Formats: sequence, structure tokens, C-alpha cells
Amino acid sequence: MYKILVLHGPNLNMLGIREPEKYGKTTLVDINNMLKELAKELKVEIETFQSNSEGDLVSKIQQAYDNFDDGILINPAAYTHTSVALRDAILSVNIPTIEVHLSNIHTREDFRQKSFIAGVSIGQISGFKHNSYLLGLKALTDYLADS
Ligand code: DQA
Repeated sequence: MYKILVLHGPNLNMLGIREPEKYGKTTLVDINNMLKELAKELKVEIETFQSNSEGDLVSKIQQAYDNFDDGILINPAAYTHTSVALRDAILSVNIPTIEVHLSNIHTREDFRQKSFIAGVSIGQISGFKHNSYLLGLKALTDYLADS
């Protein structure tokens, strides 16, 4: 059974309250529950983790190495646009990674249109609100099955 780590970056614990017109009304608990349901259907094991701290996210990626290391599904949130450290962590562990975003970052402010993570990911899914995560989990599972 594939083991997939699902990471949520800063402020995603505020989903439901935070700018619902951009990010939807679904809470992070709801998203994690939907992912767990889908994981059962896809017969994969997931662990979910949210942090507002860059270092905690880096440590979690490092801990996945040799442990929970089939795939990573990540919404790096604001760290998408700033974090060389997260990019380097993904490169260090060399775990297949898919980047997801609730909003379409390519139609937003210029600073959001650059991702430090996209270049070290299999691909990016952006703009489908909570469905981005579900599409991402399916895409990652298909990718693992094919490789
Ligand atoms: C986000 C987009 C980022 O630009 C933003 O900082 C977030 C959420 C998204 O899911 O649309 O926190 O990653």
C-alpha cells in the first residue's frame, strides 16, 4: 500500500473562515476527511500534517524519508512563493511530489505566479478549490502505479 504524506502550509488551518471567495468554504478538517475517504477507495495510506512554520514542514519532509516515502501531496501556501528550504527538502528526499493550490495562482498577483516548488514536482494542480487536493491524490496514485 502506497504511503502518501499530505502537507498543508501556513494559514490553511483557517480555511472556511479565510477569504472564502478565493479558497472556498470547506474547512481543513473537511478536506482531510475527504482525502481519507478517497485514500480508502484508492487503497493508499495517507498522513496529513499542517504547520504555520517552514522549519516544521522541512522536518516533516525529512522524516518521510525511508518511512512514509512513496509520495508527497503538498499545498505549500505562501511558502510556495518564497521557500528555497522547502524546495531543497523535496530534492533531498527525492520523493515524487505533487503541488496543489485551492486558487489558481496563475491568475493572481505577480508574486503568486512564481512557485519554488513547481520545478521539483511531478506537476501542479491549481484553481479547483478543495477538489485540487482530491485530483492531486488521484494523480499521484496513478503516477506511482505507472512508475
Ligand atoms: C494557496 C495560494 C497561495 O498564494 C496562498 O499564499 C495560500 C493558499 C492556495 O491554495 O490557493 O495560502 O496556496
